[in-house]
Amino acid sequence: MKGVVLAGGLGSRLKPLTKVTNKHLLPVYDQPMIYYPIQTLINAGIDDIMIVTGGNSAGDFLKLLGNGKDFGLKHLNYTYQEGEGGIADALSLVEHFADEQPICVVLGDNIIEGNVTQAAKDFRHQGRGAKILLKQVHDPQRFGVPELDGKRVVQIEEKPNDPKSDFAVIGIYFYDASVFEVIKTLEPSERGELEITDVNNHYINRGEMTWNELDGWWTDAGTFESLLHATNLVAKTGANNAEVKSATASE
Ligand code: G1P
Repeated sequence: MKGVVLAGGLGSRLKPLTKVTNKHLLPVYDQPMIYYPIQTLINAGIDDIMIVTGGNSAGDFLKLLGNGKDFGLKHLNYTYQEGEGGIADALSLVEHFADEQPICVVLGDNIIEGNVTQAAKDFRHQGRGAKILLKQVHDPQRFGVPELDGKRVVQIEEKPNDPKSDFAVIGIYFYDASVFEVIKTLEPSERGELEITDVNNHYINRGEMTWNELDGWWTDAGTFESLLHATNLVAKTGANNAEVKSATASE
């Protein structure tokens, strides 16, 4: 399985911090934000990784990460997203890199206390389709929110006013190689982006979506509030711990 970290976008919710740099290069406690999703992939046994960047300061990712030596990697791959096409548009750029293999995609501002080792193992076993990770939150309106029928996810709504559950779909996704064909069928949403939620609903409609519940805390870090929250969580417990239980399977 290959790994992808999506680290593009203009970081508009963090202006003026992002006027001169990329959101994912900002500090979260003692490390640049992008270190955490890279470590998430490595902890799940994924060491063939592509970084998709875009917007401001793309060159600084090379300066910071090089070939990934600080993470014990032999090599890191990079690509650049033009414009603001959204998460699924950024993901479409890795088709050549994925080379028909399954992928684990991590949003560059998503940080977890534990690891996704079990979910990665389950997805390898699943063989096809997709897997998402869910986490109970107090503010589901900010995220992709699943409607659940027992263990089955019926659909996902992106930032709903009236959420159908108190779970968020976190920014760590597993897809088989057909994801690139799915993305080609998408239309831009009201915010003018190709939505990852539309990709996920496609797999749900095909009956090929599974989910695991994540143990340990999870946060994004794309707003001032969540960036502060992420910093405090990391300072308190550290992130990417092996000893926190992994994502528990739903079946
Ligand atoms: C994105 C996804 C959303 C997901 C979230 C996780 O939202 O669209 O479904 O729950 O990441 O961080 P964004 O924060 O990019 O608007």
